[in-house]
Amino acid sequence: MSESQMNDSTFSRLFIIMILAMTALTILLVVLASFASSDVNARLDEQYELENTQSVAERIAPVGTFSADSVSAPIAVATAPKTAEQVYASCAACHDSGTLEAPIVGDVAGWAPRIAKGIETLYNNAINGINNMPAKGGNGALSDDEVKAAVDYMVSKSK
Ligand code: HEC
Repeated sequence: MSESQMNDSTFSRLFIIMILAMTALTILLVVLASFASSDVNARLDEQYELENTQSVAERIAPVGTFSADSVSAPIAVATAPKTAEQVYASCAACHDSGTLEAPIVGDVAGWAPRIAKGIETLYNNAINGINNMPAKGGNGALSDDEVKAAVDYMVSKSK
């Protein structure tokens, strides 16, 4: 083997070693880079997911929400005493038309002799019933005060 041949083979061996070393370095750098970025990516994913789930939650939120507040509000309204006009809905079936010869609300002449009996008597007869007039107009769910309010309402419209 000549010296130049040895040099050539040494060179090519060195060359191959260098290429292998550079390849190894490249692989190492790629691995390191992916390690470093995987942490960042994980954090970005996390944030994206957070933002995304929030905006999705906003977008798919129902138009009307039922919170404890919105549920309890109608219940509170339902248990609140009814206004005289609302109570009168239970009485209108007879007292609007005169069914069963009920005194018609607004019929001043028809109501005059009843009003003359005194408001307490009218309350009492409305609450307990009289002849064809059923107790509380047949609506047992009404409180005495609600019936009285309806009587006041009927009387005020019939004077
Ligand atoms: C099923 C029909 C009917 C309904 C419902 C009804 N009434 Fe009457 N009401 C009558 C009749 C009939 C009379 C007349 C009774 C009589 O004097 O003989 C009367 C009479 C009355 C009188 C006069 C009582 C008196 O002493 O002269 C009042 C007050 C009265 N109703 C209030 C009410 C109220 C308040 C309601 C609803 C909560 C109601 N009524 C629902 C049929 C009804």
